Amino acid sequence: MRVLGIETSCDETGIALYDSNIGLLANRVYSQALLHAEFGGVVPELASRDHVKKILPLISLALRDASLKKTDLNAIAYTRGPGLAGALMVGAGVASSLSFALNIPALGIHHMEGHLLAPMLEKDPPKFPFITLLVSGGHTQLVHAEALGKYRIIGESRDDAAGEAFDKIAHLMGLGYPGGAEVERMAQFGDVTRFQFPRPMTDRPGLDFSFSGLKTHTKNLVVNNSGVGGLPHADTIADICAGLQEAIVDTLVIKSSRALRLEGLSRLVVAGGVASNARLREKLSSVLLDIGASVFYARPEFCTDNGAMIAYAGCQRLLAGESSNLSISVKPRWPISYLSMQGD
Ligand code: KG4
Ligand code: ZN
Repeated sequence: MRVLGIETSCDETGIALYDSNIGLLANRVYSQALLHAEFGGVVPELASRDHVKKILPLISLALRDASLKKTDLNAIAYTRGPGLAGALMVGAGVASSLSFALNIPALGIHHMEGHLLAPMLEKDPPKFPFITLLVSGGHTQLVHAEALGKYRIIGESRDDAAGEAFDKIAHLMGLGYPGGAEVERMAQFGDVTRFQFPRPMTDRPGLDFSFSGLKTHTKNLVVNNSGVGGLPHADTIADICAGLQEAIVDTLVIKSSRALRLEGLSRLVVAGGVASNARLREKLSSVLLDIGASVFYARPEFCTDNGAMIAYAGCQRLLAGESSNLSISVKPRWPISYLSMQGD
């Protein structure tokens, strides 16, 4: 089965072609990061307008990359939610129209299920059941994944997501967007011991997270160390980035290993944009090795938003017998635990 994957939930237009026998045939991502950079976050209306401009040329490019024609497609998978309503409508509209024209199914996919399944695109894919640490711009969740479509949230952030904390603090320090990658870049030059940072909620039992206190703590550090130009010296920014990154990474590592222990599992999948953070990968690998567990990631470009994960998730669901209808309906808010094998 050959599936076209379409991702437009936020600020990346992701288009991919996946073949259930061969694997990934093409993957094209257009990032709107520069478009939103000056605003320090994604502007929904600009995001939708840009998806409209990019989506059809990207589909043509992906088909050309794979030397395929539209009529070679067997199905389409698109992100139905969660995400920005207008941005989702662009992908859903194009997917449904193509599906109508080509007389092939178009399946709406849960964006976070896409992230969760992305490591399955790699050479050594994880087997169910496993724990997933989903860490993106909008989500920080620990999910017990029993089988395709069977997900139970066992912990989540009570306020900001880890990626959101990175983004907001980076903006405050005059760094670019997306903030996590910028903080990681600056952290390489910083002294991780100069400032103390809390590891929120790690001294309490349970698997929930909270990053808003850490955000306020960092904000105060930035304000208290600012010079005449309104920002701290570049060396101080690097030290703050190093300490902040270490605190977020430690918190994620502590809760993930606790989740494995509490659920009696030994496989951890780490997915979502923050999963591309090298320090997080380094620490998780060593801590999990010590407790006899294994960790699985997608390659960094499949951790951030992309069409490959959506094409893959759609292909698995279609092969498992799921069907689609022609109505165009997106779900900007859609908890992953509501998923089943038949959509809603
Ligand atoms: O999954 P994703 O691409 O989009 C959402 O679905 O939200 O995740 C984006 C998030 C942003 O908050 C961004 O700051 C963060 O992932 N991120 C990182 C890194 N690269 C992206 N966080 C930490 N380290 C990185 N290298
Ligand atoms: Zn995402």
